[in-house]
Amino acid sequence: MEEDNKITNPGLENNYEGKQENILRPKKLDEYFGQTKVKENMKVYIEAAKKRGEPLDHVLLYGPPGLGKTTLANIISNEMNSNIKITSGPAIEKAGDLAALLTSLSQFDVLFIDEIHRLNKNVEEILYPALEDYNLDIIIGKGPTAKSIRINLPKFTLIGATTKAGSLTTPLRDRFGIVERLELYSIEDLSIIIKRSASILNIKIDEEATVEIARRSRGTPRIANRLLKRVRDYASVLGNGEITLEIAKVSLNKLDIDDMGLDAVDKKILDILINKYHGKAVGIDALATTLGEEVSTIEDVYEPYLIQIGFISRTTRGRMALPAAYKHLGIKDNK
Ligand SMILES: Nc1ncnc2c1ncn2[C@@H]1O[C@H](COP(=O)(O)OP(=O)(O)OP(=O)(O)O)[C@@H](O)[C@H]1O
Ligand SMILES: [Mg+2]
Repeated sequence: MEEDNKITNPGLENNYEGKQENILRPKKLDEYFGQTKVKENMKVYIEAAKKRGEPLDHVLLYGPPGLGKTTLANIISNEMNSNIKITSGPAIEKAGDLAALLTSLSQFDVLFIDEIHRLNKNVEEILYPALEDYNLDIIIGKGPTAKSIRINLPKFTLIGATTKAGSLTTPLRDRFGIVERLELYSIEDLSIIIKRSASILNIKIDEEATVEIARRSRGTPRIANRLLKRVRDYASVLGNGEITLEIAKVSLNKLDIDDMGLDAVDKKILDILINKYHGKAVGIDALATTLGEEVSTIEDVYEPYLIQIGFISRTTRGRMALPAAYKHLGIKDNK
């Protein structure tokens, strides 16, 4: 069982919503909708590795949160018929922690390291030879009697996930044979995902309502699933539990999510760019300070969608609101 292999429970998995997220997580590639390019590539690599009787090459998955990196890592190990061990960058504190993990693997196992950009340096250096030729070099003892010993590891596959591929060191990045970027999902793909989730959760929802939720999910399956559950709550209080377009609209508005999927923070970002800085380019640090959020939260969580829908652009001088944003907010663009 997947649960038994968990070394740490990164983030969400601890609470009730996290458990629900597991129920909704597809287990096979065929249930993993969208990301066609990534999926097709992975199919080929998995089949080829199986044919050769070799482990899959190390895989780096990157992209904004909630797009399915953890899900895909689990699917890859399922498709390889292998076991998966799950941990995260910040959970591996010392080189010894990683050594313990690596020596506990069996042939062809998948080691999944979430937030791999947060591995510390000492740990990362242990990983290089392990990835390259399945060797582990460890130093035992201290001072003049210290000795370095080499341990052969089973042939395993590392799957690393990160929201910030740019923060990975070059030597680490270079050791991944397969590097795949996950993209924001189309409304069509999100609609299919919402239908699948609704059927698993026994929720009745009509076509128009499905599309309405998809449109407001910022290209992100995790958000789509979350909105579906919140709208279900409204549906059972306001109506007979069935989600119609009207119920979807009313509840999404109550949740403060507008018809483009923008929430209060998105709107505040646009307000800062348009009103506070009068439409000039704003440096990311200034934007973060004014907003009261971390730079990385803006870059990873908010910006990708706002850029995708053409509301802001990233220039060399900073972030700028684009005409589509002015139009959406009903503000006249003076330039
Ligand atoms: N392609 C997909 N098809 C169906 N459901 C998906 C897909 N991708 C993601 N999901 C759903 O979205 C949820 C979030 O996905 P997941 O946890 O894999 O995202 P993540 O990229 O690992 O996010 P984070 O960066 O926050 O760790 C999953 O529980 C799953 O139900
Ligand atoms: Mg994840």
